[in-house]
Amino acid sequence: VEASEEWAAEIKRLARERGATLLAHNYQLPAIQDVADHVGDSLALSRIAAEAPEDTIVFCGVHFMAETAKILSPAKTVLIPDERAGCSLADSITADQLREWKAEYPDAVVVSYVNTTAEVKGLTDICCTSSNAVDVVASIDPDREVLFLPDQFLGAHVKRVTGRKNMQIWAGECHVHAGINGDELTAQAKAHPGAELFVHPECGCATSALYLAGEGFVPEDKVKILSTGGMLDAARATGAKQVLVATEVGMLHQLRKAAPEVDFQAVNDRASCPYMKMITPAALLRCLLEGKDEVHVDLATAERARKSVQRMIEIGN
Ligand code: 13P
Ligand code: SF4
Repeated sequence: VEASEEWAAEIKRLARERGATLLAHNYQLPAIQDVADHVGDSLALSRIAAEAPEDTIVFCGVHFMAETAKILSPAKTVLIPDERAGCSLADSITADQLREWKAEYPDAVVVSYVNTTAEVKGLTDICCTSSNAVDVVASIDPDREVLFLPDQFLGAHVKRVTGRKNMQIWAGECHVHAGINGDELTAQAKAHPGAELFVHPECGCATSALYLAGEGFVPEDKVKILSTGGMLDAARATGAKQVLVATEVGMLHQLRKAAPEVDFQAVNDRASCPYMKMITPAALLRCLLEGKDEVHVDLATAERARKSVQRMIEIGN
């Protein structure tokens, strides 16, 4: 099955027939983004999923995102075109590891990135995404210790911005973003003087971006550490002719649509998330034809996780 106009028409017809809304993350293949009813970052999609009037949500993204939609709307049918679409970051901490960590800091507030399993969310006080992580941590009593997990680079970014000292950070990473390294960013920034930098906080190079600004290679106001949704807002507002983008390459599609006059270049054009790309045109078609794969979260786990996810969608709104 290839993406084509006929394919897109069939997808839309089947979705209507099922009473389903199609959500797609900014890292999805361009054809999947274009056929979706809503495209966005993890926070925006969680909010849309929570409020959707439809009884069925087809989540074109990775498993934890579909799981989050199910946690928020247990009565809805949530489908993902391929349930094997995992996330290396979500895999970097297990519920047992979190239990042990919490035992070391019994009074701490646990902040988990939305890129975690439902079980880990159930052991969490507040979830966050890259677009509201700073607001979430800033909302916590300054005297309480914070356990932040699982992404070390996002954690370091939040610590830098909030200036918080009493914050422990788990040493997890996303293999796609960690692979966008400082040397590459530095080389690209030097080869493209005048370009702005949009850097996702999960990137291994987020610190190098600030270093480049500190050393005067790139003016400070031209270095932006942003979630994927934040990048789109910044793209619409930028006066720059060229922007270097440090995140998963799927992002370029929405950026180019949002600001066609700007030249967006990937800092690392091999930074493609293999899990996001499991959602192929064929997989989406099969999903709508067969009603598979359905996402299940057992009720007790969903119940425990819901409060932390609800706090996430309320903060920074
Ligand atoms: P955001 O869309 O929230 O920026 O998240 C990026 C990501 O890596 C999701 O897997
Ligand atoms: Fe997970 Fe990284 Fe893929 Fe995002 S890009 S879904 S964090 S593996």
